Amino acid sequence: MKFFIDTANIEQIKEAKSLGILDGVTTNPSLVSKEGIVGRDNLLKHYIEICNIVQGDVSAEVISTDFNGMITEAEELAALDPNIVVKIPIIKDGLKAIKYLTDKGIKTNCTLVFSTGQALLAAKAGATYVSPFVGRLDDVSSDGIELVYNIAEIYRYYGFDTQLLAASIRSTQHIIQCAQAGADVVTSPLSAILGLLKHPLTDSGIKKFLEDYNNTVGKK
Ligand code: G3P
Repeated sequence: MKFFIDTANIEQIKEAKSLGILDGVTTNPSLVSKEGIVGRDNLLKHYIEICNIVQGDVSAEVISTDFNGMITEAEELAALDPNIVVKIPIIKDGLKAIKYLTDKGIKTNCTLVFSTGQALLAAKAGATYVSPFVGRLDDVSSDGIELVYNIAEIYRYYGFDTQLLAASIRSTQHIIQCAQAGADVVTSPLSAILGLLKHPLTDSGIKKFLEDYNNTVGKK
């Protein structure tokens, strides 16, 4: 399973990279606006900076909702770096754009996916990634993890190449559940990734080992 970080924050991307397990980055318009980036040129520079840090796919989202606008933006984004993946929402024009961009060899991440039907269409159109939003489904008392299971089952059954990228991850437990459900990629906040390291028995075990060592072997 690949680990992506879901942020446009350069420091967090660098920290995740330093762990040695980072495979890519996902962003969205809300995440880039959180970084206080003003102006399209600065946004494009920001994407390039991210691509220079991470050796892996970096999702950058279009803001157009019509086919021509999406294609123009997608070509501009894809020209920034070979690792850019163009994030496109699953609406009618988005579906057409994914098919068009796939045929042109531009990688896509089909976003805002909340149903198996949407995921099926994304795969049919040849999306590189499909992003079901786990946390946002949980927010409306639906079951985000169940959707990941169901998409994984359909993709496995038909042998689709589209990678299942579980998004809108809110907790460490979500990462584990997505891994169990068969996600190819999980994109999460840094805090959720770091949570995987935590166990009180690891901490108390290290403490005891050091105490025992210092009381005998390490005695001066
Ligand atoms: O990038 C899409 C996604 O991960 C959004 O997450 O937490 O805003 O639902 P969230």
